[in-house]
Amino acid sequence: MSGDSAPPPAMDGLTLSDAVPEAEFSKRVLIKSILGRPDKGAGLNGQKVRIGGWVKTGREAEKGTLAFLQVNDGSSPENLQVLVKSDVYKVSDVVATGTCVHIEGLLQRPPETATQQNIELQVSKVISVGTVDAAKYPLPKSKARLPLELLRDVVHLRPRTNIISAIARIRNALAYATHTFFQNHGFLYIHTPIITTSDCEGAGEMFQVTTLINDAERLEKELKETPPPSVAGLKAAELAVTEKGEAVAQLKAGKASKKEIADAVSELTKAKENFSKLDERCKLAERFRLHGGIPKKDGKIDYTEDFFARQAFLTVSGQLQVETYACALSSVYTFGPTFRAENSHTSRHLAEFWMVEPEIAFADIQDDMNCAEAYVRFLCQWLLDNCYDDMEFMTKHVDKSALERLKMVAGSKFEKITYTKAVEILEEAAKVKKFENKVEWGIDLASEHERYLTEEKFKAPVIVYNYPKAIKAFYMKVNEDNNTVAAMDVLVPKVGELIGGSQREENYEVLQQRILDSGLPLEPYQWYLDLRRYGTVEHSGFGLGFERMILFATGVENIRDVIPFPRYPGRADL
Ligand code: 4AD
Ligand code: MG
Repeated sequence: MSGDSAPPPAMDGLTLSDAVPEAEFSKRVLIKSILGRPDKGAGLNGQKVRIGGWVKTGREAEKGTLAFLQVNDGSSPENLQVLVKSDVYKVSDVVATGTCVHIEGLLQRPPETATQQNIELQVSKVISVGTVDAAKYPLPKSKARLPLELLRDVVHLRPRTNIISAIARIRNALAYATHTFFQNHGFLYIHTPIITTSDCEGAGEMFQVTTLINDAERLEKELKETPPPSVAGLKAAELAVTEKGEAVAQLKAGKASKKEIADAVSELTKAKENFSKLDERCKLAERFRLHGGIPKKDGKIDYTEDFFARQAFLTVSGQLQVETYACALSSVYTFGPTFRAENSHTSRHLAEFWMVEPEIAFADIQDDMNCAEAYVRFLCQWLLDNCYDDMEFMTKHVDKSALERLKMVAGSKFEKITYTKAVEILEEAAKVKKFENKVEWGIDLASEHERYLTEEKFKAPVIVYNYPKAIKAFYMKVNEDNNTVAAMDVLVPKVGELIGGSQREENYEVLQQRILDSGLPLEPYQWYLDLRRYGTVEHSGFGLGFERMILFATGVENIRDVIPFPRYPGRADL
């Protein structure tokens, strides 16, 4: 270590170095631009720089006259070693884990005895410090790691850990890669709605969007503050209307002056307004008494009084809406949050997750599979080219096969087998291996089956296509055998299903029948049927679960750790 290094050289007169580019829109240089160089920063010896970051670990040395800090600013997994002397700043105020430091100093080569660092920062000026009460800081003070599960309880501070920040950079890279891939291939990015009135998967696992409940609560409060009029009060108001009405009639009959009549009419109008206000309040009070404030009609909730004047939900998929653009602009994609109210507690399901959904006109199931394969392989290659240091971190600390897996997927063709073939393989396997779920033609493949195919049988990504019609969504193209649909799932090791997609049914009559057969009402799908009524086209698409892709790439075990703010049954922090 460099604890006994010589005093820092005089700083006066030295200006900030332009050998390290300043971070844009921010008053410092990125630590990555120092340590991420091929020489790991060694060539910057003697340069004056300003950095900002958070202390990962800090310790006092030399009887409290010197502090060694490991500082990270999130630009890379690596920390910069920083030395603060007590004549520059009170060292005990900067050593606590989590402290934020904005500092200037000289980059210098540590003495020969310090083997770990190529370059360290000798601080000459402290611009600001965000202190931490070490006794209260929820993250560990040393290099010890909190299990990912416990980090979920500090979702606002967990981005400061090595693992969550590495996942964040990988996630960001995959989003950038996604746009790059589709833009390079001429796809247009379409923003599909988050609030929808159609159930895409027809599975009824939707979160409802309504203001009826807030309205009812507001009404309850209001009725408490200003109770409705009594029956007598309402009767009196009604009587006032009758009396004022009669007064107007008499004045008119008695040929009273225009002014007298106008004054009486004005009185009558006021009485009417008063009555209708009181009457409305009585009705609201009655509604509250009968149904807790929720409007009802014919015994059912009356959604015409809801915000959108109809029932609305959070989307489970942007597919149906993005199809409208595919059927005009040919190649499109949507990438946004999707929501499923399934009560799944598995390590592969979230209630809010992100999905990438391309949709291609003039494309059949083969084109669809080719697109899915090219996209997934592109993502893997992108991480190898752009996130190698974070992937090395994952390989070292999370899953030792992570890098190998990326290389394997980027470099090899995907296996493509029909569902029927997949079932044959599984039936064969079931003779020697125990599956919890029975295998026979017609079942929806369980996760254990999918993982057997991809992890044990093929040891590579597998695309299974042509599934039984009975287990798939209504919009999937019915094959000529009338028994299967042109659906495909991409299965990958560690995760199972990564992608679900299909050729879409473009025949109007067949699609209409499929909606009915699925027990869905036709009315909400009329616009979707219009795409087949008017200028129908063969088209296909798929949805990639973005968090599942991150699980696959990083080897992280639980999907709750690869989305910044996980939502699942019982949990929606922040
Ligand atoms: O297979 P799914 O349900 O397909 C669709 O929603 C189609 N409309 C997509 C399309 O054709 N445009 O979902 C697609 C993918 C799955 O393969 C899976 O990776 C992911 O979304 N997924 C989930 N990810 C996290 N949590 C959940 N609850 C998920 N449900 C599906
Ligand atoms: Mg699916």
